[in-house]
Amino acid sequence: MRILGTGSALPKFTLTNDRLTEFLDTSDEWIRTRTGIQSRQIATDEDLLGLALSAAQAALEDARLEPGDVDYLICSVIEPDTLTPSLACALQAEAGMSCPAMDLNCACSGFLYALDVADSLLRTGKAKRLMIVCAEMMSRLVDWTDRSTCVLFGDGAGAVVVDGGENLFRARLTSEGNVGILNHYPDPGNSPFLKSAHPAQGLYMDGQEVYKFAVSHSTHDLKQVIGEAGLELDQIDCYLLHQANKRILEAVRTRLHQPPEKFPSNVEKRGNISSATIPILMDELNRAGRFHPGDLLALSAFGAGLTTGACVIRWTKE
Ligand code: ACO
Repeated sequence: MRILGTGSALPKFTLTNDRLTEFLDTSDEWIRTRTGIQSRQIATDEDLLGLALSAAQAALEDARLEPGDVDYLICSVIEPDTLTPSLACALQAEAGMSCPAMDLNCACSGFLYALDVADSLLRTGKAKRLMIVCAEMMSRLVDWTDRSTCVLFGDGAGAVVVDGGENLFRARLTSEGNVGILNHYPDPGNSPFLKSAHPAQGLYMDGQEVYKFAVSHSTHDLKQVIGEAGLELDQIDCYLLHQANKRILEAVRTRLHQPPEKFPSNVEKRGNISSATIPILMDELNRAGRFHPGDLLALSAFGAGLTTGACVIRWTKE
């Protein structure tokens, strides 16, 4: 599998830590030292479809392709604008694509799961050129009165176009079936027959448990997948990790004995945008000219489920 183009889109409103202190009992110092986050982009008059469309169009332009060149569309999203039809169906209509289109929800690990599904579709010949769009509006999921979660997240979309050209690609996915540590319950509806239902609840997270899980699993997944690809940790040119928290990135980096320049990060200005963090970071680095043909990238994400995903891929784009 090869990456042909990348794109991303963010809402225009910047929410700083200081602005959060106007309605929450928190401080810039607490948020910065615990997470590294200084600000995040939050939707005001944008919807998820608009962000997904802008990211998709930017990725097509970067790949020098037209919408009709894409023969499979996968969107990674926790909660689309409409639960049905999928975000992918809404996006294909706006973008002018007519191909199979589906949503996938693996929370923050969604980009890795989507890449692995794409790789399978390419290998079996069911698709020749796929688009993956990860679009998340975490500001709709969090409880804005809960300081322990709402300060962590942001909104945005990242996209890639891939094809099946000869290249190194190795992925590893896991899932633990743990609903208690990280969850969000939507409105249960108003069925007069339903005898009991969990009431609607904004995003809940046991932060310390997620922290421990993230550091240990990300470190293990990366060692495992890099080894399975027949590579050494030092041969990787760039590690792109789910941008949840600066301390998690640092903990994984030091356990892998890698230098800081191999672990680029944008969490300071973006916050955690769930499955969109890695494709957004990848797009920012691509546009900054950070990647060179032949570079080896290692990706790793973790999230609700609890799910994890990691992969190694060679950057081939000129
Ligand atoms: N401002 C000020 N104080 C706060 C805030 C806040 N925003 N949030 C919590 N506190 C308080 C708590 O109430 C608690 O106070 P107490 O001691 O009086 O009870 C104190 O700070 C410590 O709270 P902890 O939860 O123990 O804080 P911790 O040091 O563990 O940091 C954090 C919390 C940043 C969430 C950390 O656990 C973490 O990074 N976890 C990983 C979370 C993560 O990465 N999630 C994303 C992955 S999954 C996904 O992407 C959906």
